[in-house]
Parts: sequence; structure tokens; C-alpha cells
Amino acid sequence: MAEWVYIREIADYVGQDVILKGWLYNKRSSGKLHFLQVRDGTGIIQCVVFKGEVSPEVFHLADHLPQETSLIVTGTVRADARAPIGFELAVKNLEVVHLAHDYPITPKEHGIAFLLDHRHLWLRSSRQHAILRVRSAVVKACRDYFDNHGFTLLDAPIFTPAACEGTTTLFPVDYFGDTVYLTQSGQLYMEAGAMAFGKVYCFGPTFRAEKSKTRRHLTEFWMIEPEVAYCDLDGDMDLAEDFIVYVVQRVLETRRAELTTLERDLTKLEQVQKPFPRISYGEAIDLLQQKGVAIEWGADFGGDEETLISETFDRPVIIHRYPVANKAFYMKTDPQDSRLALCMDVLAPEGYGEIIGGGQREDDLATLQAKIRAHDLPEQAFSWYLDLRRYGSVPHAGFGMGIERVVAWLCGLHHVREAIPFPRMLERVTP
Ligand code: 4AD
Ligand code: MG
Repeated sequence: MAEWVYIREIADYVGQDVILKGWLYNKRSSGKLHFLQVRDGTGIIQCVVFKGEVSPEVFHLADHLPQETSLIVTGTVRADARAPIGFELAVKNLEVVHLAHDYPITPKEHGIAFLLDHRHLWLRSSRQHAILRVRSAVVKACRDYFDNHGFTLLDAPIFTPAACEGTTTLFPVDYFGDTVYLTQSGQLYMEAGAMAFGKVYCFGPTFRAEKSKTRRHLTEFWMIEPEVAYCDLDGDMDLAEDFIVYVVQRVLETRRAELTTLERDLTKLEQVQKPFPRISYGEAIDLLQQKGVAIEWGADFGGDEETLISETFDRPVIIHRYPVANKAFYMKTDPQDSRLALCMDVLAPEGYGEIIGGGQREDDLATLQAKIRAHDLPEQAFSWYLDLRRYGSVPHAGFGMGIERVVAWLCGLHHVREAIPFPRMLERVTP
């Protein structure tokens, strides 16, 4: 009796009869032969139905299968150098599980709005499938990195009493008559964790009421955030660099086929090795001015500026010490220059923009209290956070990396909306 196998492991079954359970991806016919492209979630294989080898009923059935019909196919695995995966299946029998009628996503071109409306089905297309397989490998590599480097996973809450990243992008939620907010970042909780465990990280969804429609912004995105006690800005940059190199190289090892499906230039990713260039905000301003950008010291970088800077380097670039004025309340001021914060961003190469934001945290109680007041934040909501500076405060640092930005970069995507299974954006919360 033939065994049920997955297409991914088909190479182990050459010459044997197997059972595949999947869906019809595409088909074509030529007289005595029907070629069925069958997918099972792990791959796509060509199943060849030859008139002389199946019953007349099965041959007729094979010619009338609509796209995305679910089916169980029995046949013999053959090596075939011309086949995209190197193997095909000589069909002996076919059984329909469910006939799909008028599948809306056909092999022709569709507009992006139509595809996003059908995201629940679009996931089945080979391109989307490849992207989300890369995503799963990115997440696994991120977790493995921290798990293997002495970090403890500490989950941060989603309902939070206060802002971490500025009050303009908060999503309020009615919480039994009170207002709480969907988390913008787990950082403040990781700071508590670092004081308890030394090295911690969280990984989860984070929310920003981003009113801008850019190709880099989602309203719900996934962030991985390490935090380390007794770590300064330099240590933080070392960690970010080592982490990114590990993640990129792991994805290259485990998702080469998917990146090839996406026609990604792998040589660009192979260049992601240590050391990354590190430039100060001031040097970045000089660089932009040299490139003819009308920008003055103190201004924030937009997507265009980030692109210009990152295109100057063949690997990620770290920009450190931005002006304090535009930065979050928790950042530590540079003792060498009070106009600057001990923070850093990592920009991905090829114009993919900021993938990491982080830095050293303010560890002095009075300074932090003054900053909370200067930012007009409710001090009461931060009283627990201030306790961390009352009881054994130490220098500490961390960062957050947006998973979708990284997936968009590694896959070479124009927009982050394809880097998450079900994107949430200013104008989209369905399906
Ligand atoms: O630079 P951000 O705002 O930093 C923080 O939230 C810190 N509290 C993290 C920390 O130090 N623990 O966000 C970090 C990263 C960005 O570099 C970007 O990759 C991603 O999160 N990100 C977004 N990704 C998609 N859509 C958005 N709207 C994003 N906002 C930030
Ligand atoms: Mg940032």
C-alpha cells in the first residue's frame, strides 16, 4: 500500500508509489497527457496523467478539474531533470476531495487591492508562500539567536497603561470604563526583566496608529526586543550587528529555494557580514548634504533620506547619537554632548530603511523624572518604571527589530504589506 508523503520529501521516494494530498495549482493538457501542478503546502509537483495508465474515468476527471480543487493523487515518483523540482509523479489514480468552482485568483494579473481583499486565498500563490516561509525562518532564527545567547524570553503585555513611543500613535481601548492602549513596544517591561534576569527578550505584536501611508508602515507589526543589563551603546550596537548577521545567514541556509523563487539577488545578502559601518547622526547629515540633500542638523530622516544613506553601503549601516530633541523620553543623554542621545538605528541596505531602533536607557531617577515631565507624560503611569531607577539601577541597553521590515528586505519586497500574513494598515483591517 502506497504511503502518504509530502512533496518536500519526494526525493526519498524515487521509483516508489506514494500518495499526495493537496490542491490543484494549475494544469495543461496535450491529447493523451494531462499535466497537473499539485501543491500540498510544502511544494508543487507536476503530476502526469497518461491515457494509457489510468482508467478512462480518471483520465476524463483529470481534464475537468477546476483550479484549487482539493485532491488525493496516487502515483510513482520519477526523477526528471526538466521538472522544476527534479521529480514528477506518474499518476495511477486520482480522487477529488472537494471541487472548487470559480477560484477568484487566476494565473492572470490582478490589482493589489483585489489581492489584499483575497489575502486568505492569496496565501496559496507560490510567491506569497515563499515570502511567508522566509518570515517563519526569520522568526525562528531570531528566537534561536537569543535562546542560544543566554537570554530569557519574557512576554510583554499587550494592554498597557501608558505610551512608550510617543502619544501620537496610540490606539486607545476601552478597558471596563478606563482607557488603556495597545502596546507600541515591550521595551519598558523588558527593562524590568533585564534587572531581574540580566538578558531578556520579548517577541510579539505591537501597534502604532500610523496615519501615514508608506511602504514601510503597518498599524500592527511584530517586534523582537532584547534588553541587557550592564550594557552600553557600544555593546548594544555589537549585539545588533551580530544578531543581524546570524539571522541573514540562517535564512540564506534554510530558505535558499524560497529566495530563488522570489528572484532575490543572493549575493547582496551574502555580503551581510561584520563589521557594519557605524556613523554618527552628524556624519549622516554631512553625507546627505554631500549628496545634495537640503537638510540641516536637527532634522529627522524620512524614508528618502534613509534610502540615500543606506545605498552608500553594501551592508547594513548603524547610525548612532541622534539629537535628543526628536527622541523618546527614555533615551540616555550623551555625557560627551548633551544635544545627543545614546541611541542607534540600523538601516538595511538597498534602500529598505530602518530595521532596528534602540540604544542605552536613562538610568538616573531624577533625570528620567525630568524627561517624563518635559515630554508631558503622566508621571503616575510610569511610577513602576521609575522604581527600576530606585532599586539597583544600572546602565542598560536594548533594541527593537521589526520583523516585517526585515522580511521585506530579505525577500526584496516593495511594500511591507506582503511580509505579514494578514496586514493591518491605515485603510485595511480585513480579511
Ligand atoms: O524605532 P522604534 O519605534 O523603537 C522602539 O519601539 C523601541 N522601543 C524598541 C526598543 O528599543 N526595544 O521601532 C523599532 C522597529 C523599527 O526599527 C522598525 O523596524 C519597526 O520597529 N517598526 C515598524 N514596522 C512596521 N510598521 C511600523 N509602523 C513600524 N514602526 C516601527
Ligand atoms: Mg525608530
